[in-house]
Amino acid sequence: MADRFHSVGIIGAGTMGAGIAQVAATSGWTVELMDVDEPTVRAAIKGIQRRLDRLVEKGRMTADERDAVAGRLRVGDSAASFSSCELVIEAVVEDLDVKTTVLRSAVGALPANAIIATNTSSLPVSRLGEALGEPHRTIGMHFFNPAPLMKLVEVIAGDGTDPQVVDRTAAIAEGWGKVVARAADVPGFIVNHVARPYYLEAFRIMEDGFAGPDEIDGAMRDLGGFRMGPLELTDLIGQDINTATTRSVWTALDRPALLHPSRLQEQLVADGHLGRKAGRGVYGYGGDTREPAVTLDRTDLQMSDTLRDAVERFSAAASDAAGSELQHYVFARVLVAIIAQAALAHARGVATRSDIDTALRFGTNYPKGPFEWTGRIGHGRCVRLLDALNETVTDDRFAVPPWLSGAAPDHG
Ligand code: NAI
Repeated sequence: MADRFHSVGIIGAGTMGAGIAQVAATSGWTVELMDVDEPTVRAAIKGIQRRLDRLVEKGRMTADERDAVAGRLRVGDSAASFSSCELVIEAVVEDLDVKTTVLRSAVGALPANAIIATNTSSLPVSRLGEALGEPHRTIGMHFFNPAPLMKLVEVIAGDGTDPQVVDRTAAIAEGWGKVVARAADVPGFIVNHVARPYYLEAFRIMEDGFAGPDEIDGAMRDLGGFRMGPLELTDLIGQDINTATTRSVWTALDRPALLHPSRLQEQLVADGHLGRKAGRGVYGYGGDTREPAVTLDRTDLQMSDTLRDAVERFSAAASDAAGSELQHYVFARVLVAIIAQAALAHARGVATRSDIDTALRFGTNYPKGPFEWTGRIGHGRCVRLLDALNETVTDDRFAVPPWLSGAAPDHG
């Protein structure tokens, strides 16, 4: 990528825009960064420079490299700044009208073959392309927060996106050191859609009264090797953000039972338990300690022989770690819900199995992708566990999805 001059325009210098600017500039690209006004952009560039200083302090970058990266960050003062950009990425507020307006003002200044990318988490890329009258070169380029650290970029083709634009976008992201997963233009793309049961099933286990936050998070960390348990992760993300994403994906996908919002989680939001940022969420945070901050209506877990056997076989195949019967149940129930959701997404053509695995590993830091887990555990054990769990619920959410039963088309 260093053999000729590359330039990207970024509109929106907030959390994501600044992060993406750092990524591009670190990879040798000149960045034209724009926001509502110049002071906002200058503040964002200062923030990036502080992060670069820390990398120098930690010995991960030389002072010369830092200065070179900083020298590639420019304050874009009007759309004309984008006249030599081969790519423009918008990272303004999550509102289709605002995104359309800012990109429309940039389009006229861009070279005719420049790529128009959106970092949207949830809006349809096809609609943006149509609204701009540029469907062939409009694409989703979905980075994860913090963009300099998170490896994944989901590349989302709209209905009219030229396949060559998809390949060029993927190549640019890879040139920036990212791992690409290609996703269809569906609500939540891959990660925000397939990862939902990780959080939701954890909340439902608390609603059932079987286990508290420490037990659930501990089971997923200890048996599954997940870096963070689902509930502590929702506290970090913010309960309000996490529930809003659930609700929007659930609604957009015609309200599937597996993605039904959790009553308990929505109550936390209503009570102001928004997570770490509020000092209380699922846990209460005081100083260096944290304590569960939800009241559990405790019920002993009662399993039928069939369910106990299915949990034992699934969990023994999935994990080498030892744990209590409750821990194995929690781990198996949450993991098989993710596997089921991944199978549903694959059957709907959201992405290939390998792209789904890549997305979950690099977008959420899962130790394995859902299809890697399935390969380790075996289809039969997954199906038997889903069947046994489905006997315990009234909403049929553990019904075996088509791919697991072998009936889905092969998307790779
Ligand atoms: P943010 O609120 O930190 O930044 C948005 C920036 O856009 C602000 O600096 C704001 O001044 C600027 N802006 C608003 N209207 C503008 C306009 N008309 N012209 C120029 N600049 C304008 O938001 P954040 O978190 O960076 O999100 C940006 C986009 O990235 C959203 O679409 C969001 O859904 C998406 N996203 C966010 C992630 C996150 O974890 N925060 C992860 C992945 C995607």
